[in-house]
Order: sequence, then structure tokens, then C-alpha cells
Amino acid sequence: MKNGILVIGSTNIDMVASVSHLPVPGETIGDATFSVKYGGKGANQAIAAARAGGEVTFFSFLGDDSYGNALINHFRENQINSSYIVQEAGVPTGTAFIFVAENGENCIVVAPGANKEMSLERINDFMTSIRNYKAVILQLEIPGETVYAIIKEAYRNQVKVIFNPSPCHSSAIDILKYTDVLIVNEIEATELAELKNTKVPIHVIAKKLQEKNVGVVIVTLGENGCYVLSADVDQYFRGHRVNVVDTTGAGDTFCGSFTSKFMESNDLVKSVEYALASSAIAVTKLGAQTAIPVKEEVDSFLIKQSAYEI
Ligand code: RIB
Ligand code: NA
Repeated sequence: MKNGILVIGSTNIDMVASVSHLPVPGETIGDATFSVKYGGKGANQAIAAARAGGEVTFFSFLGDDSYGNALINHFRENQINSSYIVQEAGVPTGTAFIFVAENGENCIVVAPGANKEMSLERINDFMTSIRNYKAVILQLEIPGETVYAIIKEAYRNQVKVIFNPSPCHSSAIDILKYTDVLIVNEIEATELAELKNTKVPIHVIAKKLQEKNVGVVIVTLGENGCYVLSADVDQYFRGHRVNVVDTTGAGDTFCGSFTSKFMESNDLVKSVEYALASSAIAVTKLGAQTAIPVKEEVDSFLIKQSAYEI
């Protein structure tokens, strides 16, 4: 019997400065508002999967600082199995410095800290437990060699691979053939499809990715929704109109909530609709994890939306 969802990846402390506009080089903005939020692509996806109702195990490296201790409690409070999490001596927990402008745009600088220590050598003992899960979700905020080795191990053991190659690296191209579901934004999709011409329509880019032997290709399009291509689905999904406050972690919310729903229902269309709703709610609030909704919120959002459409 296979367990639930395994999320492997980064954890960051997001140091957020809310600003009127993003600064240009040399500019000082003197009236920002500061907040500390929990973030990191791996952790965001784990929280999103858990709040969507999935049974989630998260594997990540934290620092042996006070943030590391607080994060372990935070994951437990979100019903995430954190028993594999490592607190690495002598390194800080990953940190992201984020500017969020009034129009919701952001820019981010990441100091990976403990995330960088997740080398293949260090996670070797963990490898054998991968086969016990139904699905594994990965991103690229930890060393690529680790991510690629886990994907191959999952593939060999019929564990579904949900891959979100972000931040994107061209080395991910060779691993696409082992992924069941690829979730990418437009920029990542274009890079991985190896297209010279950047003015190619989304469905053509997705087709190129599908030809690399990917089961399901999902290209997220921000407020414009997403495009999905699989053996039986070939469809654009509209985004929801919401008041955007902060888009940090919106893609992560999509990935985590999609995976939970897909594992529960095996219904691609319903899972994409759920993930679009969940990430639409997430952008209406400041912060990555603080903004990720629980399933009751998403379900009532979807009911309201369908009432408008009638
Ligand atoms: O994807 C959003 C995340 O990217 C943030 O939470 C931040 O930590 C950066 O790593
Ligand atoms: Na948000």
C-alpha cells in the first residue's frame, strides 16, 4: 500500500518589504512595510497540498537556527509529516528577500543556505523510502542532481512524478521523459521546449513538451489561467478575476493543490479547476504560505463562481 504525497524541496524564510513600486538600481525607498513570512517553493507546495486535503510528507533541509525550529512546528501544525526533515548544523535556513509592489509585482533574491546542502550524497539514505509514496512533487530550488536522481528513482518504482522546474534550468530537459505531470509557466515552457522562435503559441510549445514524453503538460498563464495538454485533454482554462495583492507563491499553490486533487480524484479537469481557484485566492493576500487557502475556502469560491456563470 502506497502512502500519500511526498514533497521534496526548499524551505525559505521570506523577508518581505511591501513597497509602492519596485526600486531601480541606486534608488532608496524609505517607507516600506516589513514582514517575515514562511516560503520556499518546496514548503509552499507542501502546505498547498496539505491544505487541499492531501496526506503530505515533506523532505527539506533547514538551518539549525531559531527559524528551523519554528518551521518544524509550523509544518506539524499544518498536518505535514516532517519526520525526515534535517536541521543542518552551521548553516542558516534558506532566506528570500522579496519586494512586493502595490500592483502585486515582485522581485526576489534567494540565499539558499541549508537548501544547498541537499546533495545526492546527503540524501542517499532517504532514496529507498521514495517507493512508498503515490506521488512525488519536485522543484529546482535544491541541487539539480538530487532532483533528477529522485525523479528517476520515482519513475522506476511507479511513483507519479509531478515536476515544477522552477527556477528553470536547461539541464531539466533530459529528465522530462520521466515526468508524469509537468507544471511550467510560459518562460519555463519556452526554455524547455528548445524553441528558437519565442513568438510561438502556447499550445505549440506544450505540444513540443509532450513530444518529450511527458504525460500531462500544464502551462500556467498567471491571471490568464492555464493551458493543459494530455492524451485526452487539450484545453485552455480561464483564470479568475481577483484583486491582486501579492503573487508570491501562486505557482506553488497551483502545483500543491493540483497534486492533492489529482491524487484524490484522478480527474485532470477538476484538479486543474481546483488549482486555478486555489491560486486565485492565494494572490489576494500578502505572503506565500499565509495566503494558501484550505479546501473549504476553495470549494465555496468555486460554488460562487459557478453561480455567477449561470
Ligand atoms: O515561489 C515562491 C517562493 O520563491 C517564495 O516563497 C520564495 O521563498 C522564493 O524561493
Ligand atoms: Na499571496
